[in-house]
Parts: sequence; structure tokens; C-alpha cells
Amino acid sequence: MNPIKHMAIIMDGNGRWGLKHKKSRNLGHKEGLKTVQMVMKYCIKKEIKFLTLYAFSTENWKRPIKERNYLFSLLEIYLKEKLEKINNEKIKIKILGEKKFSNKLNNLLNLAEKKTNKNTKLQINLALNYGSKKEIVYAFNKLRYKSKISENDIDHSLYTKNIPDPEILIRTGNTQRLSNFLLWQAAYTEIFFEKKLWPDFKYEDLNKIVKKFYNIKRNFGKI
Ligand code: FPP
Repeated sequence: MNPIKHMAIIMDGNGRWGLKHKKSRNLGHKEGLKTVQMVMKYCIKKEIKFLTLYAFSTENWKRPIKERNYLFSLLEIYLKEKLEKINNEKIKIKILGEKKFSNKLNNLLNLAEKKTNKNTKLQINLALNYGSKKEIVYAFNKLRYKSKISENDIDHSLYTKNIPDPEILIRTGNTQRLSNFLLWQAAYTEIFFEKKLWPDFKYEDLNKIVKKFYNIKRNFGKI
């Protein structure tokens, strides 16, 4: 059985879910938050130590301001309401990406990171204003004075420094692409594309994927 230390997820399909239910895209984001909470519980139950969630990409700034602001307010309300509980459950929050939001949200994200820093039950990496290419450029800039650069140097200069590469990456929403997510870190990751939209993605769906993963023969180039 393959162990899972790190699960990464592209939570796609919120907007379509909201529209399908004859409401707004934003309703889909609100509903998607319930799936986030289900996945967090799942990881704790299965002792998966790292969960990375693609919550807002560098490309998502191109969305209408109303949707962006809704997403940020959802995150703000969630953290305000749940930070204490998250901390009591020994969950650590880490932000992957540059915090370039309102002062209020930036401060809240800093507080969440600081308050939960010593927790070891589960680390949630929230990819926010995250783009893999931007992250790699950031790493290159950090290393620019070195004459010889190793893979290890790059690993340790990415936002994901000290986080193991994900063994498993799931993308919901019936789209098969990586969308600038963990391009370096996913070099040997098993990728699962799920047809269901993120708010429709349930415990049983996740468990089915994990069971499939457990039984994959992972060769890493060997035979
Ligand atoms: C992609 O679906 C989803 C996002 C860009 C945002 C994800 C946000 C959440 C699940 C809720 C907030 C999360 C936290 C951690 C507080 P899409 O909007 O691109 O869907 P579409 O492909 O149907 O348009």
C-alpha cells in the first residue's frame, strides 16, 4: 500500500455548480467550502500530514472583481470563525503565494500562520495568489548568486520548502490540466482527474481515489 504524506487538490467546478443550480457562481464557492471541510476531516482520519488546496491562482485575478471579493470574504469569514477551532485541532496553516490582498486579509493570513505554526496534526497549505511559474521564478531569484545549483537547492527555495512532494493530486470538475499548479513538485505525482464538480465531490469519491492510489505500482523510472 502506497503511503500518502501529501495530497494536493485543484478544487475546480464551483462556478459551474452555482450556475447549474440556477443561482450564482458565488453560491458554488460557498458550497465548495463544505467539501474543503470534508477533505480536512478525511486527511486527519487517514493521517495524511499535508493537504495543499489551490484556492486562488495568479490567473484568477482576471475574474470579475465581484467574484474575487466574494472569494476573499469567504476566506476571511471562515478564518475569523474557525481559527480557534483549527488551532485546537492542532492544524497548521501555511500560505503558498504572495500575500497581496487587502491589509485586513493579509493580517488575518499572517495571524493564522503564526498562531498555528507549531501544530503537527495536519498542515494545510493554502495556495493563494499562487502560480507555479511565479514560484519557480522566486526560487531562481533566491539562488541567483550561486554558481552551481542543485535540485535540492531549488526544492529549498520554493514556497513548499520543507514540504514533501505530493504523492497524489486530484482535480475535480472534468478538466484535465495542471493550470500552473505545483509543476516542479508534481514531477512524480499520481494525478487523478475527477468528473464531479468540487461541491459534488463527496467522502466516498475521495475514498475511491485514495484506494485506487494505494494499489498503484509506483516505479519512479525503475521496472
Ligand atoms: C475553482 O472553481 C475554484 C476556485 C477558484 C476557488 C476555490 C475556493 C473554494 C473551494 C472556497 C474557499 C476556500 C477556502 C479554503 C476558504 P471555478 O470557479 O473555476 O469553477 P468553474 O470551472 O466551474 O468556473
